[in-house]
Amino acid sequence: MLVSLGLHPDRGDGPDGLLLACHDRIRTFTSMAARLAAGGDAPPDRVRDAAERLLRYFRDAFPLHHDDEEESVMPRLRATGDAALAGTLEVLSAQHGELVPLVESLVETWKELKERPGDLAALTDRLVPPTARLAEVLAAHLEIEESVMIPAVSRLPAGEREAIGREMRARRGA
Ligand SMILES: [Fe+2]
Ligand SMILES: [Fe+2]
Repeated sequence: MLVSLGLHPDRGDGPDGLLLACHDRIRTFTSMAARLAAGGDAPPDRVRDAAERLLRYFRDAFPLHHDDEEESVMPRLRATGDAALAGTLEVLSAQHGELVPLVESLVETWKELKERPGDLAALTDRLVPPTARLAEVLAAHLEIEESVMIPAVSRLPAGEREAIGREMRARRGA
C-alpha cells in the first residue's frame, strides 16, 4: 500500500510541514464525514462514493499519522526533558486513545454503507453520534498539536527533524 504524503502549501518539506499537510487532509475528511452523516436522502451513488473515500482515508492513511506522532515525534519531544511539553503529550496520547476505536467503529459503518448505500437513514444512530464526537475530539486535538507539538518539532535540531521526515516517508513506502 502506498499512501501519499503531501506538502503543506505554506511550509517547506520538513516534518512540521508534512504534519500540517496531514492535518489539512484530516479536516477535509472529517468535514466529508459530517456531510455524509447529515446526508439523509442523498442519492445512493453519492453515499457509496463518500463512504468509500472515507473508508480508504481513515483505514489506510489516518493510522499512519498517529504512528508518525506516537513513534517518530513524541519520543523525540519527550527526550528534550521539557516537563510542560511532556504533560501536553500525555493529553494528546489520551486523545489518540479515544480516536482509534472511534475511527475503527466508523470504518465498519462506512464499509456497510459502501455495500448498502440505501441504508444511510437506517444507520443514522451508528453514524451521527460518533461522527460528531470525532469532529469534537479532533478539533481540540489538532488545535493543541498545532499550537504546542508542531512548534516544538520546529525547534528540534536539524538531524532529529530530518529523521522524523525520513521515518514518515518510509512509513508510506515513499
Ligand atoms: Fe494526533
Ligand atoms: Fe496530528
